[in-house]
Amino acid sequence: MYAIKWNGDSVVILDQRLLPLNETYHTYTNYMDVLYSIKDMEIRGAPAIGVAGAMGVALAAKNVASESVDEFRQEMNRIIDAFASTRKTGFFLFIALNRMKSMLDTPGGVRGIRDAMEAEAVKIYEEDIEINRTIGRNGSGLIQDGDVVMTHCNAGALATAGYGTALGVIRAAVEEGKKIEVYACETRPYLQGARITALELFRDGIPVTLITDSMSGHFMKAGVIKKIVVGADRIAANGDTANKVGTYTHSVLAREHGIPFYIAASVTIIDPDLKSGEEIPIEERTVDEVAFVGREQIAPEGISIRNPSFDVTPAKNITAIITEKGLIENPGVNGASWILKK
Ligand code: MRU
Repeated sequence: MYAIKWNGDSVVILDQRLLPLNETYHTYTNYMDVLYSIKDMEIRGAPAIGVAGAMGVALAAKNVASESVDEFRQEMNRIIDAFASTRKTGFFLFIALNRMKSMLDTPGGVRGIRDAMEAEAVKIYEEDIEINRTIGRNGSGLIQDGDVVMTHCNAGALATAGYGTALGVIRAAVEEGKKIEVYACETRPYLQGARITALELFRDGIPVTLITDSMSGHFMKAGVIKKIVVGADRIAANGDTANKVGTYTHSVLAREHGIPFYIAASVTIIDPDLKSGEEIPIEERTVDEVAFVGREQIAPEGISIRNPSFDVTPAKNITAIITEKGLIENPGVNGASWILKK
């Protein structure tokens, strides 16, 4: 099972909306399909969205017929901007799109740019897998044999190019022979935890127990949960971290119960221009995600509903951020952006 692959002249994307019951892959040759795939949550998870953006742009470079370099650049800039408007909290999309944009300066005419864009998109994909494996190795020492680790949303292979960030740490600990168990929060309203994290771990043979989001405090108080590891969508310079809505609540409970709370993420999603989490843009999604479970309407017609898709965990609630460059310990004291200079 994988989220996305580049096939030379097409992009293959797993339709994650259909999980866990149906594993359907779509093959896209038109960049617009990739754009809608991101917008409609067929593919999701901050790193995977960035990879999809890059591959979508590489595909567009093949779709755009113009042989005039100026016209080609103009059209590609318009398309890159369109990809940038698909999701707004995850920072890697913008990093990946900027890398693709810089390919527009490649010499060798339109053909030179097309080739460079394809190579860059594949590089972004391959680098992400390597980064996640390194994050896994850097974080696995924090997990002890016998631990029950809680996670929220899906920061696994399907949220990335492969292996995962939070689930990468869990996978690496298991590969080292540690016997651990995972409590996966269902992650209302989109249920990435129930539909995707539980499926990934179950298929890997890693013991997983599904709980609803509101049960986390109960299991922390009962002493069941020993560690919490989640992913991230964007990290401000001071270490405040945006992740799937509900993460903040778990972090407050973890602090109350003295449970280590870890973020596993690449340094590429640290946004040094944002002083604190208050500046992180929070995507607000359609209220239908809250009003419906599947096709079933569960709320009265016409009532007021809000659906912020992410929340911000203050750095002071984070024990450490696990990155490919090592640990950012106590980000509440030290901030996070210093690691970019390492
Ligand atoms: O709305 P989604 O499913 O794209 O949100 C995903 C998350 O919030 C993940 O936890 C985050 O992107 C980290 S994935 C490595």
